[in-house]
Amino acid sequence: MAIIYFDNAATTFPKPESVYRFTDEVQRTLPVNAGRGSYKLAREATKIIDDTRREMANLVRLMRHERMIFTSSATLALNEIILGLEWNEYKNVYITPFEHNSVMRPLHAVRKKYGINIIEIPFDKSTLELDLDGMKSLFAMKNPDYVFATHVSNVTGYILPVKQIVESAKAFNAVVTLDCSQSMGLIPINVSEIGADFYVFAGHKTLYAHFGIGGFVYNSEYKLQKVITGGTGSDSLNLDMPDNFPTVYEAASPDINSIASLNASLKWLADIGAANILNEKKKKTEYLITRLKEVPGIELYLPHNLENHIGIVSFNLKGYMAEDIGIILDADFDIAVRTGYHCAPLIHDLLNTIDKRGTVRVSLGYFNTNDQIDTLVSALKEI
Ligand SMILES: Cc1ncc(COP(=O)(O)O)c(C=O)c1O
Repeated sequence: MAIIYFDNAATTFPKPESVYRFTDEVQRTLPVNAGRGSYKLAREATKIIDDTRREMANLVRLMRHERMIFTSSATLALNEIILGLEWNEYKNVYITPFEHNSVMRPLHAVRKKYGINIIEIPFDKSTLELDLDGMKSLFAMKNPDYVFATHVSNVTGYILPVKQIVESAKAFNAVVTLDCSQSMGLIPINVSEIGADFYVFAGHKTLYAHFGIGGFVYNSEYKLQKVITGGTGSDSLNLDMPDNFPTVYEAASPDINSIASLNASLKWLADIGAANILNEKKKKTEYLITRLKEVPGIELYLPHNLENHIGIVSFNLKGYMAEDIGIILDADFDIAVRTGYHCAPLIHDLLNTIDKRGTVRVSLGYFNTNDQIDTLVSALKEI
């Protein structure tokens, strides 16, 4: 029996055929160090990187395309941002309870070093959404210096009100970072309309590229310190990092294979069309929720307003630990879901899911079908 894959929030699978094809072609014909040589092959590889950067910039309406920074993952991008900010014991840092450990662990390390204040934006347990009035009061009492917000929760699929968060934070001139790992490529993002400073992405999730390519949009006049230094293929006799974008935040040999996969996936996304991708996902998510509600003893962790929700559904079944469901679905039904805390350390306290060892998470990708959802629901009913 073919495996039914419902772990697209971890990484989308499968990738579009054109992504496999182009990555394979580049791996075979252009396995060179782009930006490091002036021969023809190196120039061709460099062109793929430049084109991909421009396409990524177009996707989020970023005019200054050189400010689309490529790193090897969202985690590395977040570390470059967090460790590149200026820190002292008086800094007030706001986070949402939905943050991933790629935000929380670097911040925790900074707290241990400098004793900063990390403050959680309030959460409404009755709606499983953020309490924006509570946030505004807190901002007024303790002015924010830095704010971190994920765009789409990788646990509940909640689409956070990032525009309102940015607006409120900017009233205090805070530097705002949005973690768009679960949204870029899926939800339209216009960086100048939203107005945040940094937007982080993971190529292998909603952008349908392979692992090894992530990055961030540098949409800010704030000057991040250069955390990672090294070879750039330019100005080699200078021991300081060159100051020009994107080179200044892109030390190390670029991963041409992964960038090629992003190049192909962006073309695929454009061919299908942003609106179609989003509508498809919305329809499938609605179907998933409707069908899951039929399962006896299910508890779904959804935001009250389903307009603010997409793609990811977490639940528990009465009488079971989350991991038990994952093990049974895998062993008896060949269905892959993720169970546990999903690298999001704060939200489980608020969802009361710590004792259940987290949640069972079903996350949809473009290639999932309603038939697969039916099979999942039948399996859950059997359990
Ligand atoms: C919301 C969110 N942020 C950041 C990350 C980190 O992505 P990566 O592991 O690709 O660096 C993930 C991955 O699960 C995520 O879901």
